[in-house]
Amino acid sequence: MAEKGVKRVAEKPFLTDIKTLRERARKHIENGAITAGYSADRETVVKLLNEALATEIVCVLRYKRHYFMASGINAESVATEFLQHANEEQGHADQIAQRIVQLKGEPDLNPAGLLTRSHAEYVEGDSLIDMIKEDLVAERIAIDSYRDMINYFGSDDPTTRRLMEDILAMEEEHADDLVNLLATMG
Ligand SMILES: [Fe+2]
Ligand SMILES: [Fe+2]
Repeated sequence: MAEKGVKRVAEKPFLTDIKTLRERARKHIENGAITAGYSADRETVVKLLNEALATEIVCVLRYKRHYFMASGINAESVATEFLQHANEEQGHADQIAQRIVQLKGEPDLNPAGLLTRSHAEYVEGDSLIDMIKEDLVAERIAIDSYRDMINYFGSDDPTTRRLMEDILAMEEEHADDLVNLLATMG
């Protein structure tokens, strides 16, 4: 409880004094970016990131399949969109793998179990419309799953949270692109 007359700002001092900060930074320097102040459950963060990594890779594979299989009147512009999304998902996969390594984890790139680790599904689709719909569903799965992860990371791991926020924003753009494609194709 604050005493009368004490300004409220004094109730929230800077969290760690500089001497302690400096001393802590010198311990366990082999942990690199993982400092004493890292308050997230690192193992869980790495596990979640590996699920996001699997999701991205499944999305790369599905978009690539759709890119090569796209045929029909509207195929060229749709195929271009599929390829662009495939490349962006690959970029996300790389960013996530990089962050896992920074957190002293190991990116799980084992093809065995990939579909189980992934949240999004791999559906080939019979027609161009089917493909777009399946990609849209996969984006919507990624959007909800990444939003959950972001809430979980909260302020315990702001860097991972921000990374996933940027990726989430792009998945929302992807979903928007796909829904617009569906609309133009009737
Ligand atoms: Fe992605
Ligand atoms: Fe996406």
